[in-house]
Amino acid sequence: MRAVAKAHANIALVKYWGKRNESLILPMNGSISMTLRELSVVTAVEFHPRWQTDQLIINGSDASRTDLERMTRFLNIVRDLAQTDWRAHVVSRGNVPLASGLASSSSAYAALATASTEALRLHLDRTHLSILARQGSGSAARSIYGGFVEWTKGERDDGTDSYARLLCSPDSWDLSMVIAIVGYGAKKISSREGMARVVATSVFYRDWLNTVDDDLDNARRAILQRDFTTLGQITEASTYKMHATTMGASPPFCYWQAPTLEVIHQVERLRDHGIECYASVDAGPHVGILCKDVNAHRICEAVSGILGIAHVLITRPGPETKIEESFNEA
Ligand code: DP6
Repeated sequence: MRAVAKAHANIALVKYWGKRNESLILPMNGSISMTLRELSVVTAVEFHPRWQTDQLIINGSDASRTDLERMTRFLNIVRDLAQTDWRAHVVSRGNVPLASGLASSSSAYAALATASTEALRLHLDRTHLSILARQGSGSAARSIYGGFVEWTKGERDDGTDSYARLLCSPDSWDLSMVIAIVGYGAKKISSREGMARVVATSVFYRDWLNTVDDDLDNARRAILQRDFTTLGQITEASTYKMHATTMGASPPFCYWQAPTLEVIHQVERLRDHGIECYASVDAGPHVGILCKDVNAHRICEAVSGILGIAHVLITRPGPETKIEESFNEA
């Protein structure tokens, strides 16, 4: 019972920030993201009745105990659905820097949800795949789809109405996300820990929640109307507001490093010179720069020289998760 799936990472434009249920991973607010063509993970999952434990290999090495336990918790949900107790061997390979604030868990759990349910012949539709992937990592709910995606927070306690849907397919808008990478080291405060601290303590968290629904309405409309300026302005504002909540937490913290701010200033200068682009930062120091395709290379050059920027990549709207014939071909 084996299957292979490929999933792409995504970056939120209107951020998911805070949970109302930690174990089901139900968010306090909805979110909107862009799936990224150039950042992906391929995962092979095999279940076998004779295996005693789950195994996880990531990029050729045994996974940490924490990652393995998290995966086993997730696979237990899949095993319950399939009514089996077979253990799994999972091999995953990708090009997304891990635990650095580049949404590596979004592609990891979208691929794992897709491959594990296919291996057990569960044949879930995309809505149910999104509900399942969400329980591995919230942002993974969105990576089930390609292009521009909205994850509705839902109202129900059991999470059956908290899933993502497609807003705009990857080929229908010529936008790019230029990503300036500050460093590959794991971050000090994970997004999971950071958002929990913010929900529990930030003096700005209520204000964050009060503005998200308007941001979602306006961003959704902007995507449907291909209104780049409005989408860019909301994206940048959502970033500033999310990071303000970390500064209002107790104890306060900040994901930005010096090069993060340098890149943001460069984005402002580029705009002043008529190159329209907008900054987005997740739970780490890297900066995504939303722009039109035609400007991506110029923006890439403009931020490459900034001290502390290790690498810059240009990403385009990417595809939905899909089943692969084999691990090698993927
Ligand atoms: C800042 O999806 O990594 O990137 O649900 O705890 O696994 P868990 O968190 P995760 O958080 C992502 C937070 C964010 C914003 C976003 O992607 O919407």
